[in-house]
Amino acid sequence: MKKIIAIDGPAASGKGTLSRNLADALNFAHMDTGALYRAVAYEVLQTGGDPTQETAALAGCKSLQDKMAHDDVLSNDALRNDTIGEAASKVAVIQSVRDALIALQKSFANAPGEGFSGAILDGRDIGTVICPDAPLKLYITANVEIRAKRRMKELHSKGLDATYKAVLEDMRARDARDSGRKAAPLRPAEDAIIIDSSDLGEAQMLETALTYAKKAFG
Ligand code: CDP
Repeated sequence: MKKIIAIDGPAASGKGTLSRNLADALNFAHMDTGALYRAVAYEVLQTGGDPTQETAALAGCKSLQDKMAHDDVLSNDALRNDTIGEAASKVAVIQSVRDALIALQKSFANAPGEGFSGAILDGRDIGTVICPDAPLKLYITANVEIRAKRRMKELHSKGLDATYKAVLEDMRARDARDSGRKAAPLRPAEDAIIIDSSDLGEAQMLETALTYAKKAFG
């Protein structure tokens, strides 16, 4: 059995932190697939392009793929701000952009690298499109006000300016775009386990997920 964990959920639901903690605990490799869409958006904005335009977005994909061959472009701190998050959710609506990023994600899931016991991918469509056969699928959610507070704290901790009202509005807009789009909309896979992180701390989330991992992989 392939050891793959698919983790999906909306922005600031805690899926990134959980994925990293789970990867450490299980010695699995981790791919933050949102970073791919963010990096495409970054390439588009760097060249003054419009992230809603297919031609510009596909050029961004091409440029990212070329750079990924030489550099660790996905770790760029500049990808983390909300302007890039917003633009990422715009390029992510375009089916041809999603298609261009599928092979990369699937090959990571199937061959996470020597020394790792399995793969964890987090995003929006991992359980539904990228790894529909993953033995363990988690869908992490939390109410939008709590997610906005978490995102605001994260931005402040990086020295970035952000008001609660603006962050909440951005989050609602992004939720609507991610869930309402035709191409791979954000939704739990039918066999996903839904975890509401609104009242759970980091350690409790990890403990809960590890219980499911034990059941799935022994
Ligand atoms: O960190 P946060 O949850 O705010 O966002 P992210 O996971 O970095 O993803 C940024 C944007 O990329 C999302 O709003 C989605 O529109 C898009 N995305 C996607 O469509 N499919 C994925 N597998 C991952 C991200």
